[in-house]
Amino acid sequence: MRHLLSTRDLARDEAIRILDVAEEMADVTTREVKKLPALRGKTVVNLFFEDSTRTRISFEAAAKRLSADVINFAAKGSSVSKGESLKDTVQTLGAMGVDGVVIRHGASGAPRVLADSGWIDAAVVNAGDGTHEHPTQALLDAFTMRRRIHGAGSRGRDLDGVRVLIVGDVLHSRVARSNAWLLRTLGASVTFAAPPTLLPSTPAPFGAAVHHDLDVALAEDPDVVMMLRIQQERMNEAFFPNPREYTRHYGLTAGRFATLPPRTLIMHPGPMNRGLEIAGIAADDARSTIVEQVENGVSVRMAVLYLTLVGEQPPGTQQTPTVPQEASA
Ligand code: CP
Repeated sequence: MRHLLSTRDLARDEAIRILDVAEEMADVTTREVKKLPALRGKTVVNLFFEDSTRTRISFEAAAKRLSADVINFAAKGSSVSKGESLKDTVQTLGAMGVDGVVIRHGASGAPRVLADSGWIDAAVVNAGDGTHEHPTQALLDAFTMRRRIHGAGSRGRDLDGVRVLIVGDVLHSRVARSNAWLLRTLGASVTFAAPPTLLPSTPAPFGAAVHHDLDVALAEDPDVVMMLRIQQERMNEAFFPNPREYTRHYGLTAGRFATLPPRTLIMHPGPMNRGLEIAGIAADDARSTIVEQVENGVSVRMAVLYLTLVGEQPPGTQQTPTVPQEASA
């Protein structure tokens, strides 16, 4: 796997391989010395043109746990504000010797342009591009579901038969897109619940059933309820009458939460608008995986960095990354 740009083009075996390698990485994160020498001598740049808390810090932690050198680049405060292009920015970084670029960009398709351009000879990992995709978020979500449903340490398994309800601002959500592709590849079924104004005009390609009534969707007894953030920063018009109306119709309120069976998982990629799309009582409940998702994100991103920068072993010698006993200090 040279790049990770999308979950749409991930085959089932590739996706399971990433989740299985993430299990190896999760074992490392429980050790006193949470470090492997796997990327020693490699340099990873975190190239963030949009704000981030979880993804940027998680990629930084992942790269450092694999002993890579890490350069953090934020567009704010850089020469991007003087008009420097993506090409010139990337070529500047490439001249300093970079093996992997983790990129978040407001333009859908920017990571693909970078991977195809030849501007830099490096592995490219999409950390969220516009409203298009956020593949590592979907992978960490799938990893979290697999651990909760099949148990931590389960390897080789998919999500066959798991029913996932994705609720809210699907239109602007790269998380919803990446999850829809990946979850279907892993055998899960996906339903969107959203007002018509917050759905893509043609949701059919995602293979998701669609409900406009959240209560009807919840009555179908999904295994997982994934709440999406209302992305006000991407809204140039009114997509719903007002926040109170949105919460009444599409929020996971305390009242709706009380009707869910004890086995239903509550997920949210973060950052959350507490009180708007999700009530605090739901976010903080033991059925919520929100903090686990962040924790699992480091293991999954370690797996993605390892597989893109080091790659697979030749056939016959394939092995999960050794979790060497010689863990570096
Ligand atoms: N889930 C997610 O992408 O969060 P950040 O925007 O904080 O990275």
